[in-house]
Amino acid sequence: MTRWYRKERSTTGYKLASLRDAYRPQVESLPFFKIPSNRPRFSLTLSNVTVLSRMSFVALIWTALTMVPALAQTTSSSSPADLARGKKLFQGQCALCHGQTGEGARGPNLARPKLVHAADEAGVVRLLDNGIPGTEMSAFWQMTPNEKRQVAAYVISLGKTATETLPGDPERGRALYAAQGCANCHIAGGNGNAFGPELSDVGARRSAANLREHLTNPGKNPPDGFMMVQVTTRDGKKIAGIRKNEDTFTIQILDAGGHSYSFRKSALAEFKKLPNASPMPSFRSLSSAQLDDLVAYLAGMRGAQ
Ligand code: HEC
Ligand code: HEC
Repeated sequence: MTRWYRKERSTTGYKLASLRDAYRPQVESLPFFKIPSNRPRFSLTLSNVTVLSRMSFVALIWTALTMVPALAQTTSSSSPADLARGKKLFQGQCALCHGQTGEGARGPNLARPKLVHAADEAGVVRLLDNGIPGTEMSAFWQMTPNEKRQVAAYVISLGKTATETLPGDPERGRALYAAQGCANCHIAGGNGNAFGPELSDVGARRSAANLREHLTNPGKNPPDGFMMVQVTTRDGKKIAGIRKNEDTFTIQILDAGGHSYSFRKSALAEFKKLPNASPMPSFRSLSSAQLDDLVAYLAGMRGAQ
């Protein structure tokens, strides 16, 4: 037996050896398979192969090891440290719109078991990658993928903790809603007038605290894009209402009587925006318990979820 055969008892070596025995004449005629007797150059080549295969084995293990955390990420086993970091990031970057603990403010309450735009952690990450076009929810390109993952894990954890228990009674709230004439200005569940914003999903968009504040102090925290305006025509008529549409040259207004107007701005004597003004009356005169009931009713309006 030649030396390389003993030394390189790999499967390849073994196969080569048996090949050699079976096809010695043919094999020996091939330059590559030239079987040497003593200390052949081939043995050198073979051990190079061995070194190479060892290297690729090491590379394989290395890849496998580096993939373990990546796999862990997709199946989301976020550590408490991740959640803590996610919370910090959230308070810095999201709380302005979603509240310090995700309870909602200008943006929707995120402490819900089911979000509209994101089914899970990966969904929240995608949302942070892309934003929600046409809304204040922009993409967070300045966050690293890891930061997005951490903040997403925190957002998902919010929905898992027990939902807020409210002091009010939603059934009494429903009766108050009818008695106070809310439906004169709001549509909820398909009923009412569309002067104010539709409330069918207001419980998903606003926190309980924010809803309560809205009832006693409307106009302080209006929905996106809401604006009261007042115009004075050249002949001195004043009309105030909700801005329905506005471009550079024209403005469309809906007044409290449900009349729509369209004006060319150039034809007006005066055109004013009235920030923080709202045609919604304040319900400050209701008792605290009544407000609790109304809030409990509104908080349950979560659209088709
Ligand atoms: C400038 C305000 C603003 C900031 C800052 C902001 N958001 Fe939002 N976000 C919104 C608004 C508004 C919506 C609702 C958009 C819509 O659907 O109309 C929203 C929607 C979302 C939703 C989807 C909710 C659902 O029910 O599907 C998630 C999740 C979310 N934001 C997470 C975040 C996170 C995490 C951050 C911080 C990294 C953040 N947002 C920062 C305004 C904001
Ligand atoms: C005269 C019309 C009118 C009446 C009556 C009225 N609202 Fe409103 N409401 C509005 C308008 C206009 C807005 C939008 C401007 C604002 O936020 O103040 C609004 C906004 C709201 C919002 C915030 C909506 C959003 O999309 O964020 C809530 C919640 C609300 N109203 C609840 C009520 C409830 C509950 C009642 C009855 C107790 C009521 N409203 C009675 C006109 C009215």
